[in-house]
Amino acid sequence: MATTDSTILVLGGTGTVGSRIVSQLTALRQPVLGASRKGTGDQGVGVVFKWQDRATWDNPFKAAAVATTNNDDSGSGGSGSGSIRAVYLIAPPVLDSAGVMMEFVDFARAKGVRRFVLQSASAIESGGPAMGMVHAYLRELGQQGEVDWAVLRPTWFQQNFQQPRHVQTIKEEGKIYSATSDGKIPWVSADDIAAVAVQVLTSPSPHNTEYLVLGPELLSYRDIAETLSEVLGRRIVHVDLTSDDMEKLHQSFGMPEDYSRMMGSLDTAIKQGQENRTNDVVELLTGSAPARFRDFAESNKAIWAQS
Ligand SMILES: NC(=O)c1ccc[n+]([C@@H]2O[C@H](COP(=O)([O-])OP(=O)(O)OC[C@H]3O[C@@H](n4cnc5c(N)ncnc54)[C@H](OP(=O)(O)O)[C@@H]3O)[C@@H](O)[C@H]2O)c1
Repeated sequence: MATTDSTILVLGGTGTVGSRIVSQLTALRQPVLGASRKGTGDQGVGVVFKWQDRATWDNPFKAAAVATTNNDDSGSGGSGSGSIRAVYLIAPPVLDSAGVMMEFVDFARAKGVRRFVLQSASAIESGGPAMGMVHAYLRELGQQGEVDWAVLRPTWFQQNFQQPRHVQTIKEEGKIYSATSDGKIPWVSADDIAAVAVQVLTSPSPHNTEYLVLGPELLSYRDIAETLSEVLGRRIVHVDLTSDDMEKLHQSFGMPEDYSRMMGSLDTAIKQGQENRTNDVVELLTGSAPARFRDFAESNKAIWAQS
């Protein structure tokens, strides 16, 4: 790991993984800007950036150039220092994100950015839909010597159980819903994904590869329900839905229809065993063993407490 004066830009910097990357880089005294529509981060280093509004794309570069901790015309409270040396890319929550993301990669390259780290997903191969196309684009640019790159392909996040759709049904019904049957997942902590991201963003040598970022143990949703039952001291059960019913449940929490269809198909893939694997990527890259779901549940049990 090597921190420098030049800034690292984290898109989606207020989200589950991005906010943790911003915190971890800040703790290392690495200048960092977290970018999102709201433009406010916990660390006071936010900058307004909207994928759909190209007029905002220059904001992080202006913020890094002025290297100020005061608000400026770009809507930033940034701690940027000179140029931006690396960008962490998190897609907007739409299915057709690839075009706009590749356009931004080119925009950032023209501004002098050399390193790009993409957050994709374990279910999406290079060249696959959405982030898979961005993955293939970065690899191709890397082969041409145009960029340094890495793609993180995390599996399902432990922190998903902090999202309203799970919190509500755990608290109100004592139930967790999925369409995964007994399919197992190596649930990963967003803290570990962020720690891997920090390594690949700051390493002196580029990685120029992809990493499946997986947690330490394979657990089905029923195993998760059993762990939560033990931790919370009340019965939580897994309800196995059809893919169609799972899509409807996602939609009832405000998810667009096309996105919910994609989520339903991901549950089917889990059911068929697609996520049934572990590896040692987190430990190899960070030097620490990946966090266990039970520890996450113990640390966060207040979220699921009944009032
Ligand atoms: N959850 C999982 O289990 C899982 C597993 C594997 C891969 N993934 C992938 O991880 C990504 C999501 O990461 P995450 O969970 O860390 O993010 P997240 O918590 O959903 O946060 C999304 C971030 O993007 C920003 N954002 C949303 N729309 C935006 C827009 N139009 N323009 C600019 N910024 C925007 C949000 O901030 P504002 O609201 O302020 O804009 C926020 O900072 C997705 O690509 C997903 O496919 C998730």
